This record gives sequence, C-alpha cells and structure tokens, in this order.
Amino acid sequence: MVKTTNRTAIFFIRLITSTFVNGYTILTLYFKLMSIKDLYILGIESSCDDTSAAIIYNGKVLSNVVAGQKIHEAYGGVVPELASRAHQQNIVPVVHQALKGANINKNQLSAIAFTNGPGLMGSLLVGTSFAKSMALSLDIPLIAVNHMQAHILAHFIEEENQSVPPFPFICLTISGGHTQLVKVTNYFEFEILGETTDDAVGEAFDKTAKILGLPYPGGPLVDQYAKLGNPKAFSFTKPKVGDLEFSFSGLKTGILYFIQKNIKENPQFIEENLPDICASVQRTIVEILMEKIHNAVKQTGITHIAIAGGVSANSEIRKILKATEQLHGWNTYIPNFEYTTDNAAMIGIVGYLKYLQNSFSDQSISARARLGIEE
Ligand code: KG4
Ligand code: ZN
Repeated sequence: MVKTTNRTAIFFIRLITSTFVNGYTILTLYFKLMSIKDLYILGIESSCDDTSAAIIYNGKVLSNVVAGQKIHEAYGGVVPELASRAHQQNIVPVVHQALKGANINKNQLSAIAFTNGPGLMGSLLVGTSFAKSMALSLDIPLIAVNHMQAHILAHFIEEENQSVPPFPFICLTISGGHTQLVKVTNYFEFEILGETTDDAVGEAFDKTAKILGLPYPGGPLVDQYAKLGNPKAFSFTKPKVGDLEFSFSGLKTGILYFIQKNIKENPQFIEENLPDICASVQRTIVEILMEKIHNAVKQTGITHIAIAGGVSANSEIRKILKATEQLHGWNTYIPNFEYTTDNAAMIGIVGYLKYLQNSFSDQSISARARLGIEE
C-alpha cells in the first residue's frame, strides 16, 4: 500500500516538473493532438475520366461525389482531350457538392489531397492546378497522392463492418490501366511481385465489350450479362507467362478471332449467345487472376489477400475470392463497391494518412503521367 502511494506520488511529481520544464513542448503537443481531433481532408481525383471530390473526417468518409463522363461511351474508350475539358467543367461543382454533402465550409478544411499521377496528363493537370490554387488561397497544406497507392489504401477508410488488412498483405490491383500483385508491408511500403506484360485486365474486359458491340466502359456490362450465362459454354486459351506475371493481349485477340469465325457461320451469333460469351470470358479472366493469387500465396506464405481497383467491382472475382476463406483459410479484404472504381475518398484517406506523418507537398509539385507505385 505504502509502496503504491509512493510510486503514484513520484509519478505526479515527475509529471508536474516535466510540465514546467517542457511546458512549451507539452502545450504544442496538446494543441497538435487537439487539432488532429478535427482533421478535414478534401480529396480530389481527376486522373482519367471521373472527376471526384470527397471529404474525409478523421479517416471516415463524409461525402464522396463522382461525376462520370458519358461523352466517351460513343468512342469505345477515353478520349484524353475530351476528358480534360470535362474535368474543367466538373471540378468546381463537384468540390462544391462534396463540401455541401459533408456539411462543412472550405475554411474548415485542414488540407487538400489530390492525385498527381499516374494517369492522363491533361486530366491530371486539372486536378493538380485546382488543388494547388485552392490550398494556396486557403493557406493550408497540400498533399500529393499516388493513384495506385490510393486504390490499395482505400482499404483503410474507416467503415462499420469492414475489416482492415494487417501488414504484410498481398493486394491484387486490377484497373483499367494496371494489373499488379503488390506486397504491402506498411502504409507506404509497396513491392510489386508481378504485373502485366501488356494489357491491363480492365482493358481485357473493355475490349471484349467493344468486340461485342457494348459501350465503354464495358466491364460492368460484361459482369451483368455474365450473370445470365453459362461460364462453361466456350473456352479460351490462357496465356503462358511467369508465375506472377499477367498477359491479356493474346486473350483479347483470341476472343476477337472466336467472334469473327462464329459470325461468319451465323451473323446472329453475338445476339443469340451474349450471356454465354460474357460468362465464359469472365470465367477465364477470373481463373487467371485467382491462379496468380495462389502463386503469390505459395511464394510469400502471406494469406491476407486484398483486391483493389475498378475490376475489383466484378461480382465473380469478389465471390470466388471470398470463398477462399472457407476453402483455404485465407483472410480476404474486398473493398466496398463505391471505393473500387475511381473515387476521391481513396485520395482523401491517403491525404489523412500522410497528414498524420507530416508528409506534405509544396507548390512546386507537378502532375506525373507515369508514376510507379513505390514512388
Ligand atoms: O480503377 P478504375 O476506375 O480506373 C482506372 O484507374 O483505370 O478502373 C476502371 C476499369 C474499367 O476497365 C472498367 O471496365 C472496369 O474497371 N470495371 C469492371 C467492373 N466495373 C468496372 N470490370 C469488370 N467487372 C466490373 N463489374
Ligand atoms: Zn483507378
């Protein structure tokens, strides 16, 4: 009893003296902690054809506004000049709506995070210039965000019923521009285990859709039709590449030749078999992706597996990956649907994580069309 009282007294004496000695430091820390209590980050995304703005409050999403660009549908792919023009038209109303949706005003913002790469230069420039000017006018920090890191770190958005992957984990990042198996050892430590040697998986979906006469982006439509079809109706040759590498250009050509050959025999072939074609193509792609994940687990021994990027919205990959929890005892991390395709909430969460690490950019920062995930 006496011992405990003595220890408590010594603790308080030390605390009081250190408060006087280091009064300034303690006060500064106190105010920093107080201000960290109320961190509002505006995230801005404009790397491709979606203009998006989000408000993140202490790791939680208050608003996430995405303005897509219908204009590209007719062209079967993104037209860069049209994309940057649309970003210019959209960015002010989208940011305004994000602030309104979060019920805050711009003077409450703690920092502005924006995508500075990789992506289309014209598109990136719109978000970059806007973020720099707004941060300058509000006199708040600016945070540059790597788009591919953001797809992965979207898993750290705080949400109910959503578990966060522990380090290290493996993330299969699948989007319209990338296909990578990444080992994530910390928030900003990434190692590419393998990637595509040619097309990205999203392109394989979009090009299949184009061959089938479906509008851009075709991935979600292939997914929808596949639900109505037989995945074993047709088979396609899988690429032969390294254990952790991907290749989709051969598959795309294979699908094109298959369709051309069948249309010669029956001009109604697509109309009569659309769900079966979509289901068979999707099955082939998902089998390829799953095979690579298995190889990565075998090589690394890591069984915490996440998926990220636009193609992680695909219902089949989500279902098959989830099933590995029962089948192989893996832990899987599947992002909420709204954080799969391009969005600013994922940019905002990286902004939040970087803010906590005091990792800011200055006004000399520029957009970078090519930017590796480790950068
Ligand atoms: O991440 P994202 O929005 O943009 C890039 O960073 O590239 O990914 C877009 C890609 C497109 O190729 C789109 O067709 C594909 O994601 N995608 C899908 C699905 N939803 C989007 N692919 C297959 N199934 C889906 N449900
Ligand atoms: Zn993306």
